[in-house]
Amino acid sequence: MKGIDERPLNDILLPDYLKSRQALINEWLFRLIPDEKAFPPTIHKSMRYSLIAGGKRLRPILSIASSEAIGGDLETVLPFACAIEMIHTYSLIHDDLPAMDNDDLRRGRPTCHKVFGEGIAILTGDALLTHAFSILSRPELGGDVDPSTRLKVINELAFASGTEGMIGGQVLDLEAQNMSLDIEDLSTIHRLKTGALIRASVIIGALIGGAKEKEMNALSAFGQYLGLAFQITDDILDLESPQEISGKTQNSDITNNKATYPAILGIKASKKKAKEAADKAVAAIEPFNHQAEALRRIAYYTICRDR
Ligand code: IPE
Ligand code: IPE
Ligand code: MG
Ligand code: MG
Ligand code: MG
Repeated sequence: MKGIDERPLNDILLPDYLKSRQALINEWLFRLIPDEKAFPPTIHKSMRYSLIAGGKRLRPILSIASSEAIGGDLETVLPFACAIEMIHTYSLIHDDLPAMDNDDLRRGRPTCHKVFGEGIAILTGDALLTHAFSILSRPELGGDVDPSTRLKVINELAFASGTEGMIGGQVLDLEAQNMSLDIEDLSTIHRLKTGALIRASVIIGALIGGAKEKEMNALSAFGQYLGLAFQITDDILDLESPQEISGKTQNSDITNNKATYPAILGIKASKKKAKEAADKAVAAIEPFNHQAEALRRIAYYTICRDR
């Protein structure tokens, strides 16, 4: 693909791998959402504002790396990966609203509702969610993916985003505010609010790449453990990462009296739990060959990141 370093991870360093995939995802996202000037311009401006603002693009990169792990084609998976990023960005816009976490900073810029107002921010989330499913169901996107695989992808993403996935987790997260939970209840919240979409990102890459049942089960377990490692680390970064680096307001969880891993276990034990989850993720894909190297290294990047 033009201008993109497509070498597998064995030949390049993880930061270069992530950077090249981020560039590709950004280019595709830019093309897949309506132009700013399209009518009515406000909503298209706000969609772009939140989507193009930056972000690690972890979920679409996971789809790409998962497809790569079983020898899938990069260009085929890209529109599906971008649709996942749209849903993730929608979840962030709503998560930041005054009625939820009431945060003013996201991806290093004022949150969507701070710039466009609450009404437009709610609609921007709705629009990104709807647009994602429009992208997923467009037959001209996604190369030669057969219709039954496409349908499985759509179903997987709808399930992971819905009441038995991300939305369910966000409900429990709101209800847990000012409550004391045990670690089991908290891990359920994390599995749903964050883990479900991360696991789906891995599964969707695997579906597009044509994974067999055994590979699918292994990748599903990888995604599940990685999701937990990711959200435990997010809880830790809320305390440890200054806003100039994280692009989010530090100590937001304390302000909101949220149930988090460090609040229950302390920082040291939380870091240990994150490492254990990352180790389990990597162990789940042990039988895979060198093509899964990106997934393995992303698992450790997930717990070592500073944003
Ligand atoms: C933040 O996700 C929200 C959570 C689910 C913890 P990310 O840390 O992946 O946010 P971006 O996409 O890089 O901004
Ligand atoms: C957000 O969890 C999860 C979703 C957006 C679904 P957090 O509330 O911890 O995410 P941040 O810290 O605001 O990014
Ligand atoms: Mg939240
Ligand atoms: Mg939040
Ligand atoms: Mg957080």
